[in-house]
Amino acid sequence: MVSMQVIASPSDPIARLNLSESGFGCSPRARQAALDEADRLNRYPDAAAARLVAAIAGRENLTPNHVIVGNGIDELLLISALALVDPSAGAIVGDRTYPGHVNAVRAARQSPIILPLRDLRMDTEASASAMRSRSVVYICNPHNPTGVALDPAEIEYLARVAHQRGAVLVIDEAYIEFTDPDEATSAITHVRAGLPVIVLRTFSKIHGLAGLRCGYAMTRPDICERMRRLKDVLVFNVNRVALAAAEASLADAEFTDVVRGHTRTAVRSFEAWLTTQPWAEVNPSVTNFTLVKLPWPAHVVSERLAVHGVLVRDLTDMGWPDHVRISAGHADEMDSIRTALEKVAQELETG
Ligand SMILES: Cc1ncc(COP(=O)(O)O)c(C=O)c1O
Repeated sequence: MVSMQVIASPSDPIARLNLSESGFGCSPRARQAALDEADRLNRYPDAAAARLVAAIAGRENLTPNHVIVGNGIDELLLISALALVDPSAGAIVGDRTYPGHVNAVRAARQSPIILPLRDLRMDTEASASAMRSRSVVYICNPHNPTGVALDPAEIEYLARVAHQRGAVLVIDEAYIEFTDPDEATSAITHVRAGLPVIVLRTFSKIHGLAGLRCGYAMTRPDICERMRRLKDVLVFNVNRVALAAAEASLADAEFTDVVRGHTRTAVRSFEAWLTTQPWAEVNPSVTNFTLVKLPWPAHVVSERLAVHGVLVRDLTDMGWPDHVRISAGHADEMDSIRTALEKVAQELETG
């Protein structure tokens, strides 16, 4: 039996549903592994993260030469942009998408080619047409903030076009572990097949280790080597507590299965409730968050919800000024968001 402990302090908001974190804590085995590292804090971590790399490679049927570990996906995005983006070809990113992609490209002093979304996800036709030799294409699958996944055929098509044109396809799968097998397909098969694809995953979401900062990239050994040369500048980029907890969490599939189940239940019942509210428009999500369209400005709604102790993501800066993104939390948090939304809707409806 997996025990779930949700720890709150009085200064915490009642429900923190703004950062697409997990509301279900971390694996007890990961917590213990993190605590055990306290006796070795005077020692630098393993710069190669060899044990975690081997564990990831073993689980995904890859070799250690296919895997690189970073301080969250965010660091790997930056490493990929610095190591791979060529000024003559540029980097292709989605508009109204997780800002880490475009931010990484700009931080690497490259100009992004920003493509509009189509049907709430990356436009695969437009992405394929924009790909040149040495282009790097960033895709979020499932998409943040829409919660929609690409079809397996679309991913395969993009991977093949990248191969034909000599480009690289980066697929950010931060949320893929929340999905059921019929809802989303990982691009990892294309890494195994030797296509120029980078799959990014994180311990911040389903593993509940956002506070430790650990993510990984899986890609063809030659692309991995180019990224590793850059990563090696940041010799000890992932700390030893994060490495130990990540390794323990990866071995605790029972825990992530339980979190997936709780999360899917929370998302589905929240979406069902939203469809009964006349002011909400909701699109089914395969992730741990829900995109909600409102008849009021997102910043007004999120500020008012915060007064009731509930934090949601105002998506104005991501290009969705009348949408908020609400993460799935534990049962008390979901009760709080429903109650707070009802109150705020009533306040705004009555002017
Ligand atoms: C699509 C996407 N990629 C990456 C990240 C960041 O992941 P990490 O915590 O591993 O840096 C997030 C965080 O919300 C995200 O939504």
